[in-house]
Amino acid sequence: MGVAQKALQTLHFDLPPLPYAEDALAPVVSAETVALHHGKHQRKYVDTMNQLLQKEPVRGATLEDVVRASRGKLFSNAAQAWNHDFYWHSLSPKKTRPSAALSRRIDADFGSYERFTDELAGAATDLFGSGWAWLVEDGGKLAVATTSNADTPMAYGKRCLLTIDVWEHAYYVDYRNQRERYLSGVIGERLNWEFAELNLGL
Ligand SMILES: [Fe+2]
Repeated sequence: MGVAQKALQTLHFDLPPLPYAEDALAPVVSAETVALHHGKHQRKYVDTMNQLLQKEPVRGATLEDVVRASRGKLFSNAAQAWNHDFYWHSLSPKKTRPSAALSRRIDADFGSYERFTDELAGAATDLFGSGWAWLVEDGGKLAVATTSNADTPMAYGKRCLLTIDVWEHAYYVDYRNQRERYLSGVIGERLNWEFAELNLGL
């Protein structure tokens, strides 16, 4: 079999397990929300992506390859599969804070940790409709970004450090329409700074 044919073999991805127990993020994000979000919403994106990959073979091997190579419905489902796995890792069962090295980067690029959290909360609150709020590294600087629906900075070569899902399914069971309360809990108590540092290569 030639290399080109081999590269176009049908890809299949499993739903990645959560990095912690379903109740580990409570009370900020309840076990009920995590079970529904991971077991139903994320699973649906992964299943739909796998169905589409049977009809639309993609050159590559990883989920990142599929996101970067696809458009339309396949892109939306693959990006949602990637974003959700990144989201679970962006959250921590325990309160963490940036290391001294990362704190220096945050202070340099945002002014202070508090100004960073204000900017992240503001951007996530103001995002109209469904989407994601991110801490990214872009051109050597840390920045807050938002994307709508399934879109992801990873597709454009930006280095993602952390994300928060701001689709209603991420908070509606726990907070109803009060997105700000969900954001306050997640940003104040559940960001995984060890994951951010890993992504930054610190
Ligand atoms: Fe979600």
